Amino acid sequence: MAQSVSSPGTRGPHTPSQLDLFAATAQAYMDQSGASNTEIYEAVADRLGIDPGAHVAPVGADGVRYNLFHRNVRWVQQSLKKDGLLERVPDERGIWRLTGKGRFRLQEWQAPGTGLVAFSTRLGVAILGDCRAVFRQVDAPIALCITSPPYPLASPRAYGNKSGDEYIDFICEALEPIVASLKTGGSLVLNISNDIFERGSPARSLYREKLVLALAERLGLFKMDEIIWHNRQKAPGPTQWACKTRQQLTVAWEPLYWFTNDPQRCESDNRRVLQPHTERHAQMLAEGGERRARASSDGAHAVRPGSSYVNATPGRIPGNVFEAGHTCAGRNQVQRYAKAHGLPPHGAMFPERLVEFFVEFLTQADELVVDPFSGGGTVAAVAERLGREWIATDLMLEYMQAAGAARFCPDDAWFNPALWHRESDALRPRQLAAA
Ligand SMILES: C[S@@+](CC[C@H](N)C(=O)[O-])C[C@H]1O[C@@H](n2cnc3c(N)ncnc32)[C@H](O)[C@@H]1O
Repeated sequence: MAQSVSSPGTRGPHTPSQLDLFAATAQAYMDQSGASNTEIYEAVADRLGIDPGAHVAPVGADGVRYNLFHRNVRWVQQSLKKDGLLERVPDERGIWRLTGKGRFRLQEWQAPGTGLVAFSTRLGVAILGDCRAVFRQVDAPIALCITSPPYPLASPRAYGNKSGDEYIDFICEALEPIVASLKTGGSLVLNISNDIFERGSPARSLYREKLVLALAERLGLFKMDEIIWHNRQKAPGPTQWACKTRQQLTVAWEPLYWFTNDPQRCESDNRRVLQPHTERHAQMLAEGGERRARASSDGAHAVRPGSSYVNATPGRIPGNVFEAGHTCAGRNQVQRYAKAHGLPPHGAMFPERLVEFFVEFLTQADELVVDPFSGGGTVAAVAERLGREWIATDLMLEYMQAAGAARFCPDDAWFNPALWHRESDALRPRQLAAA
């Protein structure tokens, strides 16, 4: 049986994706632990709004008629059992219930190969789980993966990280299923840190050069550019080498590596992200173009009156340095929600403007954008706003809780009641007991 999920927006009420089915089945067990299979089938069908009778079809060479919907639900049951999330109720035939582990984990949802739908909208789905497992189940064409994995920091952040060659392997393993589903000419934008140093040394690690080579050699990607994200709000550092020994300059930028699987057919289009002309340039265009003759010292670039800049253009092509601080309204909203509900703050969110730029430059409406390391949910929120389908995963329950509730409205999204409860109009994160 295919263990794949379709793109969230392409599913209809009568053709549930595996992820919908998974969420609905897990939810049915959450709602009525110890229910019979018949009760579970009914609950899942109700939740998904489908008629199980419409899914009876002949299967195999002998054409025996099976209920494919029931078979799909049983597949989900098997996956839950395999992962130790469901257990047989003692002395009861065919009756199953969630295990303690199945119900909740405080820090991580440990369900390899599955993941739990945390919330979903008409356009997208946020899944609590390990991206390496979840994206193996996705076979919808991905137009853009824009993501920022944990950095290989010497002092790990709250969500942990790998270092050295292990880090390169980890990133390749995480991206491999996504690259496999990348549509022809699709893009990957990877934000990593430039500020990783050799232990006890002011020399920078060469991990990013190694990673770029690994992505080209192992995953067959082509590097389109290394765009500089210049962030004037970055805290000064590294303290040891810039402030104490004074051997280094202070940090001010991060790379955004842009890759594609087919450079000739890459679907980027800078006309979607043109910027306004400067006042001076607009005035020159209004006056009919350049009036003075100028040339660079070697004559390679010359402008002439009457022929240069005479045709009005709709805007300025952006340069490949992106200027943005890391704060923005969406990030502040997530931090405020986390603080108000005793959740840990997320320390490394994208500014929304940066994600907007790449989503518009690299995709069109309705295409699928994914973020395997979604953290505070910036990519999900921006993709939703710009009318793109999206899939976002994160391993940390608390980040999912803050991102979902702070960025999405309970009236426009389905929120897994295992993770939040609703009090009048507000969503409150559930305090989940450790298994
Ligand atoms: C740098 S943050 C991403 C922040 C994100 N770009 C944003 O705008 O909020 C990296 C995230 O990856 C998550 N993470 C780490 N390992 C993961 C894995 N194997 N699968 C899914 N998420 C993972 C961490 O919990 C963390 O939230």
